[in-house]
Amino acid sequence: MWPEVEPRDPRLPARVRVVEVGPRDGLQNLARTVPTDVKVEFVDLLTAAGLPVVEVTSFVSPRAIPQLGDAAEVFARIARDPATRYPVLVPNLKGMERALAAGARDVAVFTAASEGFARHNINMTIAESLRAFAPVVDLARREGVGVRGYVSTAFGCPYDGVVAPSAVRDVTRRLFDLGVEEVSIGDTIGVATPGSVRAVVGTLLEAIPAERLAVHFHDTRGTALANVLAALELGIAVVDSAAGGLGGCPYAPGASGNLATEDLLYMLHGMGIETGVDLAAVTAATSYLTTTLALTPASRYVQAAMAAGNSHL
Ligand code: COA
Ligand code: ZN
Repeated sequence: MWPEVEPRDPRLPARVRVVEVGPRDGLQNLARTVPTDVKVEFVDLLTAAGLPVVEVTSFVSPRAIPQLGDAAEVFARIARDPATRYPVLVPNLKGMERALAAGARDVAVFTAASEGFARHNINMTIAESLRAFAPVVDLARREGVGVRGYVSTAFGCPYDGVVAPSAVRDVTRRLFDLGVEEVSIGDTIGVATPGSVRAVVGTLLEAIPAERLAVHFHDTRGTALANVLAALELGIAVVDSAAGGLGGCPYAPGASGNLATEDLLYMLHGMGIETGVDLAAVTAATSYLTTTLALTPASRYVQAAMAAGNSHL
């Protein structure tokens, strides 16, 4: 029944590509171990919802993130739909080789706009991370594998504090110089506001076309949807989110979940912006996961749907 669909503001993109990061960004942060079967079923339900991109897992060091130690098994067991892409994170060449061996056709490398976060998260300086990614991106291109880059802490760092938009621009440009196709600009600790989105994304747009950029907001302080709207107004049409609003980052103390996919879809669909994604089916995926793991979904849409029973879906 809801949302009531309004005609789209012609200045906004007609279609947004939603990049579902829940199975990776969401599950990596749960203290408990999630059974491999549950991860596989969650990904399959997200595929069934028509999501164009589902980030499945991370081929990082299992010592760094033990929750994702079953990455190869999860990747092997998901049902891959030709209409969906299934990227995985790789921090280095070793991760890239593991991802290729598992059959991945899309990968993502990740660095940060601040040195403090890069050091804690990947144990490298920003410059070292870019050097480490060069052979990863080369190998990906030789294999015809798509590569996305992530820039974490683009709006603020839990270790270094304020981050200058020029620092975000510099690392983003260097990722493109390496040959990545798209860069996702991350608010890892959820401090951005529409004003800072305009400042950071606006600075990036001086040098980079909007089609090559994505935004990745955490909803720690309740500003994620407002930030998405500010990004849409700047022409950004790729938005990361996590079903149920799962997530956080083990190296960003106090960071809460990603923007919830359901909340994002509700807003976009209501504004007449297409995604091709079935909101009720994403809610079903969240409901499966949260019921199985006895978690409370952070998504406001899901909470409202649960309170109202299924009649409002
Ligand atoms: N997959 C599996 N094992 C890996 C690996 C990978 N991608 N990269 C490194 N390792 C192993 C090495 O083989 C080595 O093992 P050994 O001691 O048994 O020989 C060990 O990990 C240390 O390797 P090293 O190259 O010294 O890495 P490091 O300890 O400096 O860690 C990272 C660097 C990037 C691998 C690690 O910090 C990491 O995986 N971080 C991920 C953080 C993350 O995912 N954050 C959330 C996303 S925002
Ligand atoms: Zn994130």
